[in-house]
Amino acid sequence: MREHGVLKRVLLIYREVMNRIDSKRDFPPDVVISSAKLIRAFVEDYHEKLEEDYLFPRFRKANKLVDLVDVLNQQHQKGRVLTIGHPTGQPVSTQGCQPAREPSEHAVPVRPHV
Ligand SMILES: [Fe+2]
Repeated sequence: MREHGVLKRVLLIYREVMNRIDSKRDFPPDVVISSAKLIRAFVEDYHEKLEEDYLFPRFRKANKLVDLVDVLNQQHQKGRVLTIGHPTGQPVSTQGCQPAREPSEHAVPVRPHV
């Protein structure tokens, strides 16, 4: 899916931020917040929702790859908590937008997705 390209690019940003943190270099925090907002709006609320609403039920109905669908669904839910750090799904704002403690926390659950 072309939409996965957006996620791959954000993961590259997260990776760069991780590298900068590891090497104690500065990074622009607004880039991380913007990336988390993009993940929330495009990947989680749009792309993953389409998968959950239209693809996953078809796989389940056909009894194909159900274990994988279950894992992907769990990853979606986990990623949503990590992106914002707030399980209630409150609207994203600069004040409330807390990217995962470590960028890798989001990268881990979504990397198998792409
Ligand atoms: Fe996907």
